[in-house]
This record gives sequence, structure tokens and C-alpha cells, in this order.
Amino acid sequence: MKTAAISLLIGVCVLLQSALTVSAVSLSVSPNLQQFFSGPSSVYLSCVDDGQTVDGWTVKRTRGGLTEDCGAAAGFGEFKSYTCIFSDISESDSAGYWCETSSGQRSDQINITVTEKHLILEIPALPVRTGSDVTLCCKQRNGDTVQGYFSIKGSSVGPKREHSITNIQQSDEGLYWCSTDDGGKSPQSFLRVRGPPLLFSESVLRLFCHLVVFCLYCISTGLLLSICCSRKTRDKQPQLQPLDEECDDFTANVTTEHAF
Ligand SMILES: *[C@@H]1O[C@H](CO)[C@@H](O)[C@H](O)[C@H]1NC(C)=O
Repeated sequence: MKTAAISLLIGVCVLLQSALTVSAVSLSVSPNLQQFFSGPSSVYLSCVDDGQTVDGWTVKRTRGGLTEDCGAAAGFGEFKSYTCIFSDISESDSAGYWCETSSGQRSDQINITVTEKHLILEIPALPVRTGSDVTLCCKQRNGDTVQGYFSIKGSSVGPKREHSITNIQQSDEGLYWCSTDDGGKSPQSFLRVRGPPLLFSESVLRLFCHLVVFCLYCISTGLLLSICCSRKTRDKQPQLQPLDEECDDFTANVTTEHAF
């Protein structure tokens, strides 16, 4: 009974921990942009946890209901040292990208838009933390920043060379694009805003769960050892304390635990 309860607890904690681990893995985009001009351009996508690339995750994308893997024969890009590399991008690379394990755990999705036209909005691909500053630029194919109108969640400002948002808040999340007097218009992208840095909440919760799993592991190992020891002691004096049916069941449980 006790061992069942303990293995249940461990199970719950391992699940909780893996859930926290999954939410920690994210797709990293370098350069950190959502919009690109078609043509020769190096874009790197990798799966990261705390800034470190992680093994066992595949970069995937979906467009028009079709899901593809990075580096696969019928896929896209080149997968090298845990990084999905584009050396040339085209409009058909406009898609939603994410990281996924073979067991189906997945990161948040990032939408990338590649245009053949003449204007892009430089807007971060990764979610922006509340309280930070972001500068949006309207760029031409030749790399020049141009005077433009910035469309922000339905309203428009400009013309100006750039649009800065200081002390960004959740309310700044939304659709952004830019346009110019000569009729040029960039694609639209969604700016995502995330809560403040992990000073307390998430990191402490993760640490706590690690500790709980570790403690439960120690306790259950200790319990199993003590059960084994007491059983051995009893085996030495079978005439004094014969094992009843219940005890036999219990022993079977313990054996299963070991195999597990
Ligand atoms: C990405 O694109 C899909 C389909 O266009 C849309 O439903 C989704 O909200 C977008 N997500 C982000 C984060 O922009």
C-alpha cells in the first residue's frame, strides 16, 4: 500500500517535472526576426533550454496543413549541430516553426514570413519580456531603413524612421506592420509579450520539483531497503513469524518495484 502511494507520488512528480521541462524548451531564431526578404540569407533555428541547445528535439514547420521536419529528405533546411540552417530562403519558407520531440512534446510556435516584395518590418521573433524596450524598423531590400508608417494593433503612426516601444506591456501584444508613401507594405507579424524574468515563479517551482523528486527517490529507496532487510530478518526465523498471504502479496509488489 505504502509503496503504491509512493510510486504514484513519484509518477505525478516526474510528470509535473517533465511538463515544466517541456515548457522551458523554446525555438530560437537567429537573427531574431519574423520577416525576411527572399534570397540568399542565413537564418538559424535551434531548440534551446536556458540558452543552451538541446539534444533530441527536431525543428518542424507547418504551412497549408503540411508538416515538415528540418533536414529530412522531403523537409527543409539543413540540420547540423542541433541547428536548422537556411542558406537561402523563399516565400515557400513562410510557415509556423516549432521544436518537437519524438514523443510529441512541443515548444511554442514562431511564425516566419518571407516576402518577395520590397519592404519588411524588423520585429523580434522571440517573445519580448514585459518591461523591456523594442525598436521596430521598416527596411528595404537593399538594407536601408526607410521612413514609414507603423501600424500598431489597428492604429497608425508616422511617417518616421523607427518606432520604439519602451517598458513594453502585455497590452502591446498584437499585429504590427509598416508601409511607405509609395504604396509599399510589409507583411504583418504578431508581437508576443511574456511575463517578467524568471526571478521567482518558474525557476523556484522547477527547483522545488527537482527537490521533491529527489527526496521521494531517497525515501522510497530507504523504504524498499528497510522492507527487504526486515523480510530477510524474518526469513531467518520462519518458525517465529510465518509469512501470511498479505505479506506474500506485499513481497510481489516489492519485486515489481525492483523490476521497474
Ligand atoms: C501564427 O500563424 C497562425 C496561422 O496564420 C496563427 O493562427 C497564429 O496565431 C500565429 N501565431 C503567432 C504567435 O503569431
